[in-house]
Amino acid sequence: MNLSHALIATVLVTTGSAATAQSSLPPVPTPAGNPTTFEKVQLGKALYWDEQLSSSRTTACATCHIPSAGGCDPRSIGGNSLHPGLDGLLGTIDDVVGSPGVPNSDLDGSYWPVDVFGIGVQVTGRKAPSVINAAYSPMLFWDGRASNTFQDPLTGATVLSDLAALESQAAGPPQSPAEMGHMGRDWSNIAARMETSKPLAMASNLDANLSAFVGNRSYPDLFETVFGTNDVTPSRILMAIAAYERTLISDRTPFDAFVVGVPNTMTPLELDGYGVFGGSGRCHSCHTPPLLTDNQFHNVGVSTIAQDPGRGGITGLAQDMGAFRTPGLRNVALHPPYFHDGNAATLMDVVEAYDRGGDVHENLSPMIHPLNLTAYEKTALVAFLEVLTDPRVVNETAPFERPTLYSESNARPQIYGQATPGAGGSAPICVAIEPPLHGTDSLTIAVHGGLPDAHGFLALSRLEDVRTFAGIELMVDISTPHALIPVRLHAVAGSASYSMVLPEDIQSIGTQFFAQWLVRDPGSPGGLSASQGMAFTIF
Ligand code: HEC
Ligand code: HEC
Repeated sequence: MNLSHALIATVLVTTGSAATAQSSLPPVPTPAGNPTTFEKVQLGKALYWDEQLSSSRTTACATCHIPSAGGCDPRSIGGNSLHPGLDGLLGTIDDVVGSPGVPNSDLDGSYWPVDVFGIGVQVTGRKAPSVINAAYSPMLFWDGRASNTFQDPLTGATVLSDLAALESQAAGPPQSPAEMGHMGRDWSNIAARMETSKPLAMASNLDANLSAFVGNRSYPDLFETVFGTNDVTPSRILMAIAAYERTLISDRTPFDAFVVGVPNTMTPLELDGYGVFGGSGRCHSCHTPPLLTDNQFHNVGVSTIAQDPGRGGITGLAQDMGAFRTPGLRNVALHPPYFHDGNAATLMDVVEAYDRGGDVHENLSPMIHPLNLTAYEKTALVAFLEVLTDPRVVNETAPFERPTLYSESNARPQIYGQATPGAGGSAPICVAIEPPLHGTDSLTIAVHGGLPDAHGFLALSRLEDVRTFAGIELMVDISTPHALIPVRLHAVAGSASYSMVLPEDIQSIGTQFFAQWLVRDPGSPGGLSASQGMAFTIF
């Protein structure tokens, strides 16, 4: 490093601390009935990062809203994260890049095939927006359907009459059978689940504050500390989660430092980009500083009204058709793809879309028209959008520090060995995504792609036994009679599932199980087809 670089480095470091002292953002709106306290934030953080909040124990709020992904879902990259859109078909132009949620299941944990997803995880019909700085929005969701007024999800009584969009919003996903719930799940099911779950039993690498707060305590203990009594109620769960989200404020970008007057925080290219943003691009009229959103709804020509009416679907008003809430742009570079349907892959794609004056001209906002930007102006605009990144978000440092999810660990059930195809040439596929947590009331192991309507067995054993037997590749020991659990495959997707209870007793931790699906398939040589094996260890 030469001297001038060293000087620049010093300036940058000083800049960071100057921005620390002075935020360009207003105070965080907080409902009078839900004051933010240190302990409530810790409880909310535990709930937000607890995958046990979902029926299948596979999906936390955080799963779809990760800090280093700008508060959005890093899995939104096609493949597993595609939703079929209006035509109900995958692989067509109206597909949405959304977030994978949970398989369609019932109260008992059985999986039931649905639409294009079968018994695989279902995908949301819109891209997950950011939780970071969501605290500033008077309404949430792309269509603003989560309002300022928070009603108890069980009784409908108004709990908070203002500034409570976060509380209202959080009530949705745990009940949704696609995101976190099972069919017919309600908030009494959810509160009961949390009451008996060991806080963050599945997470690891807790930060010091969170770990000290949770300790070895139960959720009722934690609720007592925060709310005075140990009742784990839906409203309390939601108020705690919202309190945590109110701490997820990002205001330390080079742009924020620039706004509060710190010199040399943005390069000439980035400054030119800011010029276009506020000048010929007219971006700032909707992405208004300092929040970089006006929190209003506009139709910027992303998709047709039939594909998604947006705000119009809530208000029914003609002028709202195809309009979506303007997203704030801090940390935008961290969360491709863009727009409510995730169909713009890069920031340059977004800029190009604005430059052509939007793609769908149905009820288009009068503020959207071709911009005729030069190549330099486009590059500068993208550079400006990239300078809206907060290093604490990228690095997941306070207030964005966080535990590791179970789904990010390698403790998940492992699939091994070879499958044996049936007469049609394809083999049944084993679906094993749920965590083998001791005491679990339902660990579901499923199969799809077997011969529809056929009889089959789940071979379940403490012993692995890989060998060729009766024309199939056998993966588990089937010598004990009770190791074969009979099922009938669904006529639709050739799927079936089996839910087992795991022992509560901690002695069971470390016990290994091996499983494999065997499906009767009269056309195949041995009369059977078989999935790969699946191994899991109780933890
Ligand atoms: C399966 C993925 C998934 C899970 C799990 C999930 N979300 Fe979301 N979240 C989304 C999607 C998709 C949207 C946008 C939906 C829409 O606008 O219709 C969203 C919207 C939001 C918003 C609104 C942001 C804005 O700017 O409008 C917040 C806040 C949020 N989620 C927080 C949470 C919390 C808290 C939980 C847990 C209780 C949660 N999410 C669980 C996918 C998910
Ligand atoms: C008329 C108001 C309006 C104007 C002007 C506008 N935007 Fe937007 N912007 C929106 C809305 C609304 C969305 C969400 C649209 C959707 O998903 O359907 C959006 C989305 C975006 C996104 C995607 C963010 C995300 O999280 O997916 C980016 C980036 C963006 N705008 C940048 C810009 C830039 C750069 C300009 C100027 C060239 C601009 N916007 C002009 C309202 C506007």
